[in-house]
Amino acid sequence: MHAGNAQHRTILIFTNNVYTHILALHSLFRWLVLPGMLFAIFRAWRGWLGNRPFSRHDNAVRFITATIAHIQLILGLCLYFISPLISYFLHEYKDAVHQRQVRFFGMEHSLMMLIGIVIITIGSAVAKRKTTDQQKFKAMAIWYTIGLLVILLNIPWPFSPLVSRPYFRLLF
Ligand code: HEM
Repeated sequence: MHAGNAQHRTILIFTNNVYTHILALHSLFRWLVLPGMLFAIFRAWRGWLGNRPFSRHDNAVRFITATIAHIQLILGLCLYFISPLISYFLHEYKDAVHQRQVRFFGMEHSLMMLIGIVIITIGSAVAKRKTTDQQKFKAMAIWYTIGLLVILLNIPWPFSPLVSRPYFRLLF
């Protein structure tokens, strides 16, 4: 085999391997994002409506959930650069934009998830800057709830009539 071809083949196999692992990781990571967000939202509404003090624990929950969302964003961005599906979307845009599955990941999913994570980031920053405990809980309760709803609506659930993907993918 020609040396150049062999090298090209090695790079392709390597990229494909990295792609399948990051895809599985991104799929799995949702199960950290979702329960984390639910827990943070529960504490925020309870604190706000129940007039509780905003503890160090609440502050840690605010920070950790936003960080988990950011890690998922980074995994998603990595996928955007190496996914063969996205590569097809970007290179054959005119045809690909009419294919639901491809357009979903190329546009709707990526853009809406980015928006959802930006909403959570704003909520976290606003809550941090507020001075009273009630204002902190209120900011977290509202921004995090909206952010989670945007995320939930744009996950390719197995039961989704639009685009469905499995609940779990094996990592190895
Ligand atoms: C909380 C945020 C997010 C969640 C819960 C989430 C969830 C998912 C899930 C469940 C899949 C299907 C994985 C599979 O096929 O098993 C997926 C695929 C994908 N996501 Fe996300 N995602 C999020 C954010 C993002 C962001 C911000 C981007 C890009 C900027 C992104 C880009 C992608 C891409 C490119 C694919 C796969 C396309 C392919 O099949 O090659 N995701 N995501």
